[in-house]
Amino acid sequence: PTPEAWRALDAYLSDTLVGHDPDLEAAIETQEDAGLPAIEVAPLNGKFLHLLARISGARRVLEIGTLGGYSTIWLARALPEGGRVVSIEAEPYNAGIARANLQRAGVDDRVEIREGRASDVLPTLAGEEPFDLVFIDADKESNTIYLDWAARLGHPGTIVVVDNIGRSGEVADPHSTNRQVVGTQRGLEMLGTDPRFDATALQTLDRKGWDGVALAIVTDAAH
Ligand code: DHB
Ligand code: MG
Repeated sequence: PTPEAWRALDAYLSDTLVGHDPDLEAAIETQEDAGLPAIEVAPLNGKFLHLLARISGARRVLEIGTLGGYSTIWLARALPEGGRVVSIEAEPYNAGIARANLQRAGVDDRVEIREGRASDVLPTLAGEEPFDLVFIDADKESNTIYLDWAARLGHPGTIVVVDNIGRSGEVADPHSTNRQVVGTQRGLEMLGTDPRFDATALQTLDRKGWDGVALAIVTDAAH
């Protein structure tokens, strides 16, 4: 398909299934005005995460990589009464933008943003209740570390989603020297071989281009 054709389809599907959402649109605008990169999940994928959380009845959600809080709002809106999203963000500036967006969307009471590098913050969550859904969308170089923590901080049945597993097809290149691509490949290999996971992947072609998400469940081998 031509870029025009898939963008038109993305717009059609977004208009038809997601529709107009002032709080989410304001979050994107605030993020853009603040100079953050436009790398948040596409609306259809934000809603996909939201539905996964609802379908699974997730009460505790862990997000690695908050950015401006766009996907965080989608996840927070999926929670039942008393549910919680813990979202980790390395950049204090981004965390500030995200907090403003979460407040405007009325979900700040359900979300905790933990500032710091995820590899430092994740061990501090070990004493808390396990997470039912983990969304990994941060520095791709660290995906194997994040997956290891997803298994440790989850329970058998926990859903794990990894963003950006396609990268315009670059992830299929075994000779890639791009560190993000190599990190993504190591993460996918871990999902394919580590008995703590059972996984698949979906390619996506939307307003952000050609990419995809991996979807995994934490197995009984994790405990
Ligand atoms: C990049 C990161 C993302 O999480 C994404 O969804 C798209 C692009 C990036 O770092 O380029
Ligand atoms: Mg991403």
